[in-house]
Amino acid sequence: MEMQEQLRKIQEEALAQLAQIDDKAGLDALKLRLMGKKGELTLLRRSMGQIPAEDRPKAGQMINEVVAALTAQMDALDERLKAREQEKKLAREAIDVTEPRKHTPIGMQHPISLVQDQMLGVFTSMGFDVVEGPEVEYDLYNFELMNIPKNHPARDAQDTFYIEDNVVLRTHTSPVQARTMLTRKPPIRIVCPGRVYRADEVDATHSPVFHQMEGLVVGEDVTMADLKGTLDAFAQKLFGQDVTTRFRPSFFPFTEPSAEVDLTCVNCHGKGCRVCKGTGWIEVLGAGMVNPKVLEMCGIDSRKYSGFAFGVGLERIAMLRYGITDMRALFEGDVRFLSQFRDD
Ligand code: PHE
Repeated sequence: MEMQEQLRKIQEEALAQLAQIDDKAGLDALKLRLMGKKGELTLLRRSMGQIPAEDRPKAGQMINEVVAALTAQMDALDERLKAREQEKKLAREAIDVTEPRKHTPIGMQHPISLVQDQMLGVFTSMGFDVVEGPEVEYDLYNFELMNIPKNHPARDAQDTFYIEDNVVLRTHTSPVQARTMLTRKPPIRIVCPGRVYRADEVDATHSPVFHQMEGLVVGEDVTMADLKGTLDAFAQKLFGQDVTTRFRPSFFPFTEPSAEVDLTCVNCHGKGCRVCKGTGWIEVLGAGMVNPKVLEMCGIDSRKYSGFAFGVGLERIAMLRYGITDMRALFEGDVRFLSQFRDD
């Protein structure tokens, strides 16, 4: 039977070709050649009219079988080609998550901000509120209500930047004490961080602008022991358990009695070294019991209430904490220097 022979040939050739085909275009071409409008199998099916009627069902069945077999093979190849294409695509789009990233510099906290945050953490955990005041301040708050008399040397233009006769750049954070006492009733427990200004020449330990943190506690039965306990806790939390405070008599117009407060030298732990000039102690802050005159001027009954106050220089604390020997490094903004410090 001629048609049978033809069919066998077509199938054989198709299978041989199928084994060679490597891409979609090749597969499409083969499909078209076999089953397109003028495809070999299409034409063969069309030519069925020419064979005797009794042979037709058999012939039709044979064609169908070959079409089904080839279609199955071509579909399988199509699947394989698609899978290969997908693999290639995934390989092309693969991301190497282990590849090191480009260096992206990120900002660091300034050492002054670091110690300020550490100190605020210590004091807020002891129940202190954080209060801020203006840097451009009235003479009234900076001096008058702090019991600093008109003829006091601190008021001299050599020490104080004047904006107007009655307006200065605050020389300390103490005016925030007055602002708070005038607006809040005891019990008061606040710390006040901020910038302060003095007409100083720049050197390794001085700058015309620097930072302080003021502390103020006012209540019934507040004593010097409370001041000592508070400052001891602060010193230990910031510098370690073996650090303690020593009070030396001093004078501030707004406190009575007043003290200069030393810490155990954080460098030699009290043995005596270059940092503490052999004494084992380093001076870090001023403190005292709020002068009753200040309480009264700020509207607080000094027979009922007492208080303590302290003022700490943040540059001093940062220098001690991080072993910085020249204060200018804190103001120059050299990123190579500043990026060395982090909270720990
Ligand atoms: N205001 C003082 C200063 O700037 C520090 C201080 C504050 C002292 C509070 C005693 C009490 O030197």
